[in-house]
Amino acid sequence: MIEVKPRVFVFDAYGTLFDVHAAIARHRAVAGADADRFSEIWRIKQLEYSWVLTLAGQYVDFWSLTERALDYALARVPSVDRALRPKLLDAYRELDAFPDARLAVESLKARGARAAILSNGSPAMLDAAVAAAHMAELFDAVLSVDAVRMYKPRPEVYALVTSRFQITPQEVAFVSSNRWDVMGAAAFGFRPFWINRAKMPDEYFEHAPLQVLSELSALTSIGA
Ligand code: LAC
Repeated sequence: MIEVKPRVFVFDAYGTLFDVHAAIARHRAVAGADADRFSEIWRIKQLEYSWVLTLAGQYVDFWSLTERALDYALARVPSVDRALRPKLLDAYRELDAFPDARLAVESLKARGARAAILSNGSPAMLDAAVAAAHMAELFDAVLSVDAVRMYKPRPEVYALVTSRFQITPQEVAFVSSNRWDVMGAAAFGFRPFWINRAKMPDEYFEHAPLQVLSELSALTSIGA
């Protein structure tokens, strides 16, 4: 079998390049003892809303879902001061990139690969996050689900990559720390890489990653 080398490295944004728990981390002292549980609820509700709306054939942009999920988390965890709401949203707009994100993308680009983002994030959110991380010049495309008004893991979303770059799914290395996103990418025919920083248990066994990596910097050791 001829090995097709990836021509484009496509990155998920939230959780993969940008640390979704960085917002609460900046305000941990004020948020108090329930900070981590609060951040988990915020994240999982944001994703749940995206899945439920898509299953129902509905669409609301990801920034609105982020706000709604935050309001839900504030209601569920009353020990977190509501006054933090605007500060947490400001922090979410400019989340920290993981420390190895920039170097990993730079090294792939230096080896001649193209790089892109494919994210649930709305275009304005993605622009702000990429600019804050000083990574804008590294990406050949920043693709948002907003173009198809449905969320991952719908195949229509992954197809944004193949139509933008005019390539086959097998030529795409798809990188995500979200195991359910790796499932969607694998089902679409991408070459999926799972960044499992937190050593989470595996799931979605029929749609396995090609490789499990503990950090983005490990990507530079795969064929490009
Ligand atoms: C994204 C979601 C998975 O960036 O957070 O697409």
